Amino acid sequence: ALASAAERVAAEFEYSKEDVNRGVQAFIEQMDEGLGKVGATMSQIPTYVTAVPNGTEKGLYMAVDLGGTNFRVCSIQLHGNSTFSLTQSKVAIPKDLMVAKTSHELFSFLAKQIELFLKTHHGEHYQSHVERKASMIGLGGYKDEEIFSLGFTFSFPVQQYGINKGTLIRWTKGFDIHDTVGKDVCALLQKEIDALSLPVRVAALVNDTVGTLMARSYTSPGKTGTLLGAIFGTGTNGAYVEKLGKVTKLKNMGEEAGEIDESTGEMIVNTEWGSFDNHMSVLPDTPYDKDLDKESVNPGIQMFEKRVSGMFLGEILRRAIVALVNDPSVPLFSDEDSSRNDVHSTTIIDPSSPLYQQWGLDTSFLSITSGDSSSGLKVTRQTLDVDYGVSAASAEDAEAVRLIAAAVGKRAARLSAVAIAAVVISTDSLAKTGDDVDIGVDGSLVEFYPNFEDYIREALRDIPQIGPQGEKRIRIGIAKDGSGVGAALIALVADKAMRAGP
Ligand code: BG6
Ligand code: GLC
Repeated sequence: ALASAAERVAAEFEYSKEDVNRGVQAFIEQMDEGLGKVGATMSQIPTYVTAVPNGTEKGLYMAVDLGGTNFRVCSIQLHGNSTFSLTQSKVAIPKDLMVAKTSHELFSFLAKQIELFLKTHHGEHYQSHVERKASMIGLGGYKDEEIFSLGFTFSFPVQQYGINKGTLIRWTKGFDIHDTVGKDVCALLQKEIDALSLPVRVAALVNDTVGTLMARSYTSPGKTGTLLGAIFGTGTNGAYVEKLGKVTKLKNMGEEAGEIDESTGEMIVNTEWGSFDNHMSVLPDTPYDKDLDKESVNPGIQMFEKRVSGMFLGEILRRAIVALVNDPSVPLFSDEDSSRNDVHSTTIIDPSSPLYQQWGLDTSFLSITSGDSSSGLKVTRQTLDVDYGVSAASAEDAEAVRLIAAAVGKRAARLSAVAIAAVVISTDSLAKTGDDVDIGVDGSLVEFYPNFEDYIREALRDIPQIGPQGEKRIRIGIAKDGSGVGAALIALVADKAMRAGP
């Protein structure tokens, strides 16, 4: 009974070849729609970054990175030969700041981390400021050359008006601070930096996908450059190189559109594909997906992300498991004595188990169980015991959970392939060049979920415009912690533009 119930639930997550192809079609249409107008389901945000690096860039820059889970501060020395050295510090973002009452609480915390980093790693810079301040040379008492240019990786949807100017469209990934929406996030950070008189200028605003794209281009410059930077982590999103002429909404933005360097005829577009198909025309929708969305802080939004990324997969699995546990005809995690008469009234789950709490099941569990090759799934059973209050789960229990977890993970990977394929196809990248099409990726899911890339590739082969031949020509490489380097590279470009003057 257990095995067949698990198979039935796993089947609810099947995402067929036909589904994949229908998804790609809709994805391309919604990409086009987003290029044409502001306010489409896929935001297709112009980033004002019009060139990818070639590896020769040099200099010392700072970057900060507000992702979904961590805040990182780094300084990056670009050596100019496709290599760099990076000094960094990382802290988990305190949960209460993600839902703080005011922007000030979050951004002053970020500025304090920058101060701490400067004190620890660039002490000369930091201390000299105190003396210099008295003499008041330049900004805040610093000489121009003492001021760090900083790239701000802010991994949320921002309407950009220039390379270091942009207002928050909406929060994602569980953040929810009302008064930040509509504000310029660079100005918010600069204000808190200035309040601490730090020698730092926010020079560029960067999405993590854009940073990943830039970093990948810097470290592995191929003949044709990198097409796409994609994150499969807490959230999911992609940024790609688009023809400037296709970003037609820039014209309609009129005065609002910032200065654009048109020399390359290209611009990097941040798709915000997490919001692909918010109106649910093609996305799969199991009862678990529906309930997850209904009880989230942003129902109806980020519908693609809610089926693909790390913040959500554990919660989908948790809901599927609890549904089975609550089904009296299914003996999952049931006390042996009571299952004997086919009615499971007793369960071996501790009543205070995180399995009974929203967001209680971490996505890392999917990776653990999918990668479990121990006999009798001992590792899965141990994890259930230690982390989830399920003592004495049987091998059959663990096998059932693993089957469903694998189905949730595989669906996520096949959906990811939809996004990747749509970008490759809509830019005509396979036809344009005889070279490989290069994609840089980052994020905990693609890094740790076993076989995530293999599942993506399997789905790519299911798409006629790509097929087995095309799939082989798509190169996917991890750009680990890429957004720091990427942000530094964009700060460099912004600096050059500023020094060249209007
Ligand atoms: C990090 C990048 O490596 O990956 C961040 O520096 C990015 O910018 C993050 O947001 C995505 O992965 P995760 O799993 O932390 O969301
Ligand atoms: C969310 C954010 C997006 C970010 C992605 C990956 O989708 O909206 O800006 O790139 O997460 O971190």
